[in-house]
Amino acid sequence: MKNIIALAGSNSKTSINKQLATYSAKRVDGAEVTVLDLNDYDLPLYGVDREEASGIPEDANKLSKAIEECDGIVLSLAEHNGSFTAAFKNAVDWISRGDMKFWKDQPMLLLATSPGGRGGSSVLKTAVELYPHQGAKVISEFSLPSFYDNFEDGIKDETLSKDLNAKIELFAGAL
Ligand SMILES: Cc1cc2nc3c(=O)[nH]c(=O)nc-3n(C[C@H](O)[C@H](O)[C@H](O)COP(=O)(O)O)c2cc1C
Repeated sequence: MKNIIALAGSNSKTSINKQLATYSAKRVDGAEVTVLDLNDYDLPLYGVDREEASGIPEDANKLSKAIEECDGIVLSLAEHNGSFTAAFKNAVDWISRGDMKFWKDQPMLLLATSPGGRGGSSVLKTAVELYPHQGAKVISEFSLPSFYDNFEDGIKDETLSKDLNAKIELFAGAL
């Protein structure tokens, strides 16, 4: 049995990206899913002075270990002003201090969604370009536009649903 983690690039308690990541991860055949939540990691605002004074927080190591020990990652990115949310960027900055290839060579299904028509495509594009340099094997990517129109216990639009399913299959094949 493969173990995959579902993670949202958001600390919102009602994160639509957490919903999309969880939904997609649970559609991977024969995989056990662990849903991670950024709120469960106590990570102060990264600063070089803070790191020098106190080192890398235990919870950053905990997150790195979860990434290292899984077989694949379904990551759905929330977009704030065209980029990563501050909470997610902060978590990434901390884990990058332990290992610059902090995605640990893991296969990754990269997703993004937002209430708007572009579906977080700016942050998704950034991540698709960046993450292979940071140790991720990006298998496929998918953006879900207009989340509240297109998602209710699953993807309502048939074309979008087929597209995501095909990408989930590609990801499953890479585990
Ligand atoms: C500060 C801020 C900036 C935002 N910027 C964008 C943006 O650039 N593009 C976008 O599509 N949505 C933007 N949004 C809307 C988010 O996509 C929306 O809040 C979404 O629910 C975030 O995903 P989450 O629920 O997983 O946290 C922004 C929201 C906030 C609060």
